[in-house]
Amino acid sequence: ALPRGRRAPVSAVARPGKAGLKGNSKGGVPAASKRSQGATRALSPAMVELETASLQISQTPEWKALEDHVTEIEQTHLRVLLRDAKRSEFLFHEHNKIISDFSRQRVTEKTIELLINLADRAKLRKKIDAMFNGEKINLTEDRAVLHVALRAPRNQQIFTDGADVVPEVWQVLDKIKSFTDKVRDGTWLGATGKPLTDVVAIGIGGSFLGPLFVHTALRTEQTAGEEAKGRNLRFLANVDPVDVARALNGLRPETTLIVVVSKTFTTAETMLNARTVRTWLTAELGKEAVSKHMVAVSTNLKLVKEFGIDPENAFAFWDWVGGRYSVCSAVGMLPLSLQYGFDIMEQFLKGAHDVDDHFRTSPFGENIPVMLGLTGVWNTTFLGYPSLAILPYTQALSKLAPHIQQVSMESNGKGVSLDGSKLSFEAGEIDFGEPGTNGQHSFYQLIHQGRVVPCEFIGIVKSQQSVYLKGEVVSNHDELMCNFFAQADALATGKTPVELRAENVPDSLIPHKTFTGNRPSTSVLLPELTAYTVGQILSLYENRIAVQGFIWGINSFDQWGVELGKVLASKVRAEMNMCRTQDRKVGPSDGFNHSTTKLLNRYLDGKAR
Ligand code: F6P
Repeated sequence: ALPRGRRAPVSAVARPGKAGLKGNSKGGVPAASKRSQGATRALSPAMVELETASLQISQTPEWKALEDHVTEIEQTHLRVLLRDAKRSEFLFHEHNKIISDFSRQRVTEKTIELLINLADRAKLRKKIDAMFNGEKINLTEDRAVLHVALRAPRNQQIFTDGADVVPEVWQVLDKIKSFTDKVRDGTWLGATGKPLTDVVAIGIGGSFLGPLFVHTALRTEQTAGEEAKGRNLRFLANVDPVDVARALNGLRPETTLIVVVSKTFTTAETMLNARTVRTWLTAELGKEAVSKHMVAVSTNLKLVKEFGIDPENAFAFWDWVGGRYSVCSAVGMLPLSLQYGFDIMEQFLKGAHDVDDHFRTSPFGENIPVMLGLTGVWNTTFLGYPSLAILPYTQALSKLAPHIQQVSMESNGKGVSLDGSKLSFEAGEIDFGEPGTNGQHSFYQLIHQGRVVPCEFIGIVKSQQSVYLKGEVVSNHDELMCNFFAQADALATGKTPVELRAENVPDSLIPHKTFTGNRPSTSVLLPELTAYTVGQILSLYENRIAVQGFIWGINSFDQWGVELGKVLASKVRAEMNMCRTQDRKVGPSDGFNHSTTKLLNRYLDGKAR
């Protein structure tokens, strides 16, 4: 029997008295979580089961079966596999006008069956349910992972720690709508009585990359573009003074609104940039201007107030939203609603929710995020291809790859399983990408003939732009999409010496022009690129990354690796301060190795000159 016929269990509906997700029915409000905080934290029975289940996934028979199956797949070639129409149909999926074609993956029906067996062994369904049910699946930070609640409709109930979070989410969304409407229609004016037409969003990492991706995707969308007329949204992420200068270049404080976006409100780069821009603002408009020109998005409202931003002008989110999963919170919704209007951005939330629902309820074999995750695990862990190229054939998605790079690599770049034991295999994947066809003229040589890099091609049926050259049969968009179709097949089929000889290619060039093919890819085709479909794309990727982490048995929701560098930077900062104030050099007893001591002193010398 084919695995795609399996149905999802209906366990996504919470039982009364437990944290979880409910439909629109009344009653059944869960009891408060009894979980203790801190070091003596006790796991709920569901979490104990999941933690145990995820141990040693690589020791299970299901894992071994996939390892054995690699030998079988190595005997196949995509050139031949693609001749099998039945197989192609089996690997072709559609959900709400999103088409995903996995037929160019190095898989057979048996591979998918074995991958689903592995998913079952990893308790993937229970883990998905635990996430949607508000269980604290981020064990090392003792937090729920509920970014899906950010796009839940008003009438849905999602509980964590005994409280339904959806009303709070909508309270903030309503506040965003009210505030952004006022700024956009000129009811909210700057300190000198001028409308605020320019917005600078200051934030880094997850407080930047998601909003940048969505902003870039919508800039040329017609309805969104109309809404954005006369408005200007910029981002300031890097602490580099060059980035500050570029973000502020040409702006006037009296027409500028600053949005400081930081989950913790402690990130060194963001706070320094926020202070710098506050100085830029107040130097011209005076201190009182802050209340009209600066707003904040954070979970840390105490620090927002201490910074001097009116708590009335703060837009909250919650510790159950990871930074890199926060674009659907005020992190993205505030700056993007200022630019495009709340109604457009609500469509974005609806698109993300649509795919969340598909993810939560569809059988694995026809569940697009699950299939993306399963083939990702297959390529990375079993076939040994560590990278993934994200290749949208639309310039509007030029910031998708940088965003997904953070979501994927910060989430799944882990070396230990949930219980802290060292992984016996390599988890995570190296994500990169560029829009086609630009990428073709950059790194495609390597992916055609050098290393094997699984690819994800994303195509759009109807362009955001309808600019056609008169008399051209093939439009710019058709030309772009010809490449979308051609590249996937070129990677899969390659070119043989026999074919080259038949084309009279001289013998000396045959090795250079031979392409082995058999290079895996997935093709995703969307009807158009709107706020709604951009939301769908976001959810596809967020959930596919969760699937990979759930199967690998890691915690995809913490990011301790980022801390190490931050701590060392603080040490350098303290030393630099001392050297500057005491007019001295870094010495051998200051705790740095020889190399860093020398480099630091050269830097300090350079500044002094
Ligand atoms: O890069 C590490 C990180 O902690 C991200 O996860 C986060 O999105 C980013 O820094 C910014 O953090 P914050 O929003 O707290 O300023």
